[in-house]
Amino acid sequence: MEILRATDYQVLSNMAAEIVAREVNSKPDCVLGLATGSTPIGLYKQLAQLHNTGKLSLSRIYGINLDEYVGLSAEHKLSYQHYMWYNFYNLIKADARHVNIPNGLAEDLKKECERYDAVIKSLGGIDLQILGIGANGHIGFNEPAEVFIKNTHVVQLHESTRKMNARFFDNMNQVPTSAITIGIGAIMRAKKILLLASGHDKSTALHKMLHSDITPQIPATILQLHSNVTIIADEESLG
Ligand code: F6R
Repeated sequence: MEILRATDYQVLSNMAAEIVAREVNSKPDCVLGLATGSTPIGLYKQLAQLHNTGKLSLSRIYGINLDEYVGLSAEHKLSYQHYMWYNFYNLIKADARHVNIPNGLAEDLKKECERYDAVIKSLGGIDLQILGIGANGHIGFNEPAEVFIKNTHVVQLHESTRKMNARFFDNMNQVPTSAITIGIGAIMRAKKILLLASGHDKSTALHKMLHSDITPQIPATILQLHSNVTIIADEESLG
């Protein structure tokens, strides 16, 4: 794993955008695995700026999002579907046919998970997977568990994750209790992984990811087995 130290969040976002831009320049129709949450917002903003000033063309990329809350419609302000259009896709006038996000309102969630895995497969897998990291070591919404789950699945969100994400909702009761997430299999099959970590809250998870034994209790430790991982972390998260 290569660890790049960023002095602050803006620098982290710019460094991440450079890596994504390099990928897109070498393969304009690449498949990007995309994360939501606070961490990649600066990256999306920077990418959109490069696109809109003619320095990069994102018009042919395919996006595969990591996850979506169960029970929130695409229009819900806190759904990841809404997040992606608001923070990225609207800014680059993306072609909706290139956008893939699990449907958290699907009647048959198991079928939706199978559909999503089939979409990832039909696109030939993920070229560059962008990840954040949860304070409990989750990647996507692969929460600490007894085993690593390979495929896209429905997951019960841990109380600590719900509490962390409650900052976006009016109150804790509104935070969904479950989500659809791509599995560890699709993440590990990504050709390259770019993990971003910002802020003191992430220092323990980051340290464990790098130094603990590989265990599904700290899902991010599996990345130790991937041959092409770049971590961009700011001073605070590196402790
Ligand atoms: C988001 C996701 C999560 C977040 C993680 C960190 O799609 O899958 O794993 O990356 O919870 O979230 P932030 O960036 O808000 O600290």
